[in-house]
Amino acid sequence: MKGKIVLVVGASSGVGRAVSLKLASQGATVIISSRDKNALKTLKNTIEINGGQCYMHSCDICSEEAVRGLIDETINQFGKIDIAILSSAVQYVDTVDQLNIDEVNSMFQTNVVGIIRCTRLLLPHMMKKKSGQIALISSIMGEAAFPHMVSYGATKAAISCFARGLRREVTDHGIAVTLFSPGHMNTNLSAHLHDRIPLWYGKSGSLNVEVVAQKLVTSIRRKKADVVIGRQSIMLGNMIKFLPNIANNIIRKITT
Ligand SMILES: NC(=O)c1ccc[n+]([C@@H]2O[C@H](COP(=O)([O-])OP(=O)(O)OC[C@H]3O[C@@H](n4cnc5c(N)ncnc54)[C@H](OP(=O)(O)O)[C@@H]3O)[C@@H](O)[C@H]2O)c1
Repeated sequence: MKGKIVLVVGASSGVGRAVSLKLASQGATVIISSRDKNALKTLKNTIEINGGQCYMHSCDICSEEAVRGLIDETINQFGKIDIAILSSAVQYVDTVDQLNIDEVNSMFQTNVVGIIRCTRLLLPHMMKKKSGQIALISSIMGEAAFPHMVSYGATKAAISCFARGLRREVTDHGIAVTLFSPGHMNTNLSAHLHDRIPLWYGKSGSLNVEVVAQKLVTSIRRKKADVVIGRQSIMLGNMIKFLPNIANNIIRKITT
């Protein structure tokens, strides 16, 4: 990773934070971004104490101007972005009859429109260089459509679809797209869910964020296309594809 300029969007916590630490320890220059300046400062200090190279730029991906500023300033300073990891997301849950539409809107604005905005503004720079890599983070929820989580799942299904189509558009421009779909992890994103869906959520175990971040780094190094993380997620994904009725019954059983 030496000499690589890596932009991590959604770096203040969870997978984005863990992957930033790993990439910096492997010699990449990491530009960390998200809204929480204090969390970014703490991460930047940690990376630098460990001998890594890190720059921070706070940015809300729901703002076109802010994302343009993030990408333009990074390009002005470093001349390129070799790898962009787009990890930002928010999550709200409820049964569909109880959904708060403002929360649904916020999820789509961040998880879908914000991520597409980042990609849209990154691509001209990567296309000009005829190289680059974009890692998009979806979720097994984008395939599994668990009750209570269907609108969040819909945002993740949108990102999976976006990533697969994007890959077809940009491969000939020398740009790789990695779509990464982990199973459940204990992060800030999911911390509040135990109150709202206490009976079954997370009961079948969680993936370790460090392990997920390492798999993401390996997948990026190998320019993998579609990566599902977690044994249960891989099994569930295959079952949904090949045995949809059985998958439907299992999902209903474990979520009631
Ligand atoms: N946790 C799970 O069980 C799970 C499972 C599968 C997939 N995923 C996916 O993995 C990715 C990382 O999630 P995580 O679990 O690591 O959650 P997390 O710790 O909550 O991280 C989410 C990141 O998104 C950033 N973010 C949220 N809104 C933003 C905005 N408007 N602009 C810029 N950044 C924003 C947050 O930073 P600020 O608040 O500082 O902006 C934070 O850094 C997400 O795409 C998520 O959907 C998570």
